[in-house]
Amino acid sequence: MTLEEVRNKYFEFFEKHGHALVPSALLTPENDPTTLFVGSGMQPLLPYLLGERHPKGVRIVNSQKAFRAEDIEEIGDNRHTTFFEMLGNWSLGDYFKEEQLPWFFEFLTSELGLSPDKLYVTVFAGDESNGIPKDEASVVIWKKLFKEAGIEASDVFIGSEEDGYKKGMKEGERIFYYDAKKNWWSRAGVPENMPVGEPGGPDSEVFYDFGTKHDKSFGEHCHPNCDCGRFVEIGNSVFMEYIKKEDGSFEKLAQKNVDFGGGLIRITAAANEDSDVFNVDVLNVIIEHISKLSGKSYLDAENKKSFRVIADHIRAAIFMIVDGVVPSNTDAGYFVRRLIRRAVRHMDKLGVDKETLHTVVAPVADVYKAQYPELLNKKTDIEREISLEEEKFRETLKKGLKQLEKAKDGKLSGKEAFVLFSTYGFPLELTLELAPELNIEVDVEGFKSEMVSHQELSRVGAEHKFKGGLSDGGEVTTMLHSATHLMLAGLRKYLGDGVHQAGSNITSERTRFDFTHPEKVDRETLDKVEGYVNDAIVDHAKMELIEMPKEEAKNSGVEGSFWEKYPDTVQVYTIVADDGTVWSRELCGGPHVKNTADIKGTFKITKEESSSAGVRRVKAVLQ
Ligand code: ALA
Repeated sequence: MTLEEVRNKYFEFFEKHGHALVPSALLTPENDPTTLFVGSGMQPLLPYLLGERHPKGVRIVNSQKAFRAEDIEEIGDNRHTTFFEMLGNWSLGDYFKEEQLPWFFEFLTSELGLSPDKLYVTVFAGDESNGIPKDEASVVIWKKLFKEAGIEASDVFIGSEEDGYKKGMKEGERIFYYDAKKNWWSRAGVPENMPVGEPGGPDSEVFYDFGTKHDKSFGEHCHPNCDCGRFVEIGNSVFMEYIKKEDGSFEKLAQKNVDFGGGLIRITAAANEDSDVFNVDVLNVIIEHISKLSGKSYLDAENKKSFRVIADHIRAAIFMIVDGVVPSNTDAGYFVRRLIRRAVRHMDKLGVDKETLHTVVAPVADVYKAQYPELLNKKTDIEREISLEEEKFRETLKKGLKQLEKAKDGKLSGKEAFVLFSTYGFPLELTLELAPELNIEVDVEGFKSEMVSHQELSRVGAEHKFKGGLSDGGEVTTMLHSATHLMLAGLRKYLGDGVHQAGSNITSERTRFDFTHPEKVDRETLDKVEGYVNDAIVDHAKMELIEMPKEEAKNSGVEGSFWEKYPDTVQVYTIVADDGTVWSRELCGGPHVKNTADIKGTFKITKEESSSAGVRRVKAVLQ
C-alpha cells in the first residue's frame, strides 16, 4: 500500500464515524513560542482539548506534519524519521475508551488487514504518588477485542525500566502494563515534569510484531517497549482527562478527551509487512533517485545509513521550506541548514560530490501531490533554497577540510577548532564528524574555553565601547596591535612588496590601517589575509623583541615605514613559531602580546576603501 492509500482509508473510516476532516497545521507552530516545530498532533489542537469549542465540532480527524529534532543524530535505523505525519482522531469531550480502542482495532484489522495475532498492546499501570489509578477499563476492552478475534490475551505488569524489565514476556501475554514513563502522555512527559496547567493522561499503545529476532544488546528480554526493532509502535490512544494544578496535584479536566496519534509511515510499513519505513513509497522515491545519482545500491549494508539519512533529512528540509523556513544560523532556520548539510555529507559518502540535492524535490513533490499540492506550486523556490545552501556548504566544506588537514600530529587544538567555527563557518559538530575520518583528535574542552574567552572578549569590547572607544593601551588594543603586524605581513604576502604602512589607528574595538597599494583589494584577497592572521594566531607563535642599529635593521629587510622618525637603535618585533616560521618582522615601539595565543578571538577584515591616492584603508576586528 502507498502512504496515500492508508491515509485515505483512515480519513474515510473516521469520517464514517462522524469525524470532521481538518487540514494539517503548519510545521512551525502559530501562537506558540514554546517549540520551534510542531512535535505532535495535539499541539495545534491544545485550546480545544482544554475546553474551547472547535468550529468543526467534537470529533476531528487529521494528519499532522511533525518534526522531532531529538532524533536528528539517530537517524539510520529502519523506523525513525525526524519528519513524520501523524494520523489523529480526536474526541473533544465526546467519546472515550469504549469507542476509541475498538475503532482503532477495527481500522487495523479490517481496513488494513493486519493480523490481530501480530498486535500487542500496552496500558497504564497507575501512579500512586499522584493518585492516578491503573487503567483497568482499557484492559477489559482489549481482552474482549482479542477474544472476538479468537485470541486469549492475558495481561501482565512487565516491570520498570529501572529493573530492566527482567520478567520478559511469556506465551499468551498480549496486554502489558507499564508505568508512567511509557504509558502516560503529555507534551512534557511524565507527570512530575509537567508544568502547571498542562493537560495529560494515561495512554494505550499498539505495537506491531515484525517477528525479527531479539537483539540482546537492547536488554536480556524482549517486550513491546524494547528498542530492538521487533515491536514497532503504530498508534497511541491518549485518554487526556487530567490537568496539573498549582500545588502539583492532578485534577480531572472538565471534559474527557481522546488524542490518538499514529505514525502514518509506520502503519503503512505494517500494512506492507515490511519493517523498513524507507521502503514505503514516499521515502522510497528518494532512495531510488539517490541510487540513480550515485550508482550505489540501498541494499548494500555499508550504504544503508547514508541513504536513510539523506532521504529523511531532505524530506524534512523540503517540508520546512514549503512552510516558510529558510536555512539560517538561528532558530528553525538552523535546523533546515543542519538537515541539508548532513544530507550533503552523506551524498559525499555515496560518492556524489556535486551540487545535486535539489533534484530530490521533484520526486517528493510528485509523490505527495494529492495531500500537499503546495510542494508542486513552490517547487522552484524549494529547489533554489536547497541548491544555494548546498553550494554554500560545499564551499565551506572545502575551506574547512583544508584547514583540518593542516592539523599537526593528528591533533586539533581548541583554538584551531574555534577558528574553524568562527572564520570558516564550521560548527564543532561537523568538525567532530569529520575528525575520525581524517584520524584527528579534537580538543573539545579547549574549544569550549575558547568560546568562553571569545564571549569575554566581546564583553570587554562592549565595555570599552561605552567608555567612548578611544585608544586606551589596554589589553584589546595590544592584541589588535599585534594582529595588525600580522595583517601587514599578510598584505605584503598576497599583494607584494609594494605594500607598506601609511598610517594606523587602533582602538579597543578595531584597527584601522592605511597602506600603499594602487587599487582596490578584492574580498578573496582580504579573506586570504585574514586566513594568514588567523593561522598565525593558532600557531601560538612567540613575539620576540630585539634591539639593533637602525641601518642593520633596514638592510636585513625588516619591514617599516617612517624610518626617519626612529632613533639610531631601533626595536624589531619578530613573530616566530617554534618551528622557525617567521610570521612577521617589523620595526615598532610596542606594546605587543607575548605570544599570538594571547590574541583572543578571530581576526576579521570588515572594510576596505580608498584613503587617498595610492593608499588603501582597511578596518579589522577581533571577533
Ligand atoms: N499525542 C500523542 C503522541 O504524540 C498521541 O504520541
